Amino acid sequence: MTMVNIALPKGRLGETVYRSFKAAGYACPAIEEANRKLVFENPDAGVRYFWVKPSDVSIYVERGAADVGVAGKDILLEYRPDVYELADLDVGKCRMCVAARADFRDDGSRTLRVATKFPRIARDYYSSLSRDIDIIKLNGSIELAPLLGLSDVIVDIVETGRTLAENGLEVKAEIVPVSARLIANKVSWKFKNDAIRRMARLLAEQAAANRKENQA
Ligand code: PRP
Repeated sequence: MTMVNIALPKGRLGETVYRSFKAAGYACPAIEEANRKLVFENPDAGVRYFWVKPSDVSIYVERGAADVGVAGKDILLEYRPDVYELADLDVGKCRMCVAARADFRDDGSRTLRVATKFPRIARDYYSSLSRDIDIIKLNGSIELAPLLGLSDVIVDIVETGRTLAENGLEVKAEIVPVSARLIANKVSWKFKNDAIRRMARLLAEQAAANRKENQA
């Protein structure tokens, strides 16, 4: 049987995503035992999983170290990897937003200081508004920047909104909705087409079933 190499994002999203793969028929019992291994396979189901840092999934897939992977739409918009996007898994849902202190008003009089982990998304958004900005690239705890006066606004992921609320910040604009996507390496797509196409179909069906269940 063809083995499909799958890069899963390590962490909370990865666990949710693995449950989708399992429900779609790609279980791998070894992965469910808590340990620190990074590679797991189930030859019977034709899958080999790797746990990868979420922001690195698209690198593994683009370079063919993994045939497929699961990455947030935020990562795909930011890094624009040369891969195929095959399915929206409808999990890991959140929004890319502009946020600032509740009392902040942008009067447009000077260059806006924007702190973010996503400089390209921020630049694309503000250039669509013809607004001059100064990007301050940070790697985490972005919400601190406006509190300390390092930036005027942030461009960041909002999921429940708790981090913003607990730090006196609020959403000022929504840029794009985000969810987890199945992506494929372009060469793998060609050479393992039947296996990957089937996987994408089963996962898309799984996502549709979940969506229905959530609506009921
Ligand atoms: C993300 C994001 C926000 C938070 C939003 O941070 O950057 O800080 O989650 O979630 P909420 O709306 O449910 O509060 P992450 O946990 O990835 O950490 P980091 O960016 O600070 O490293």
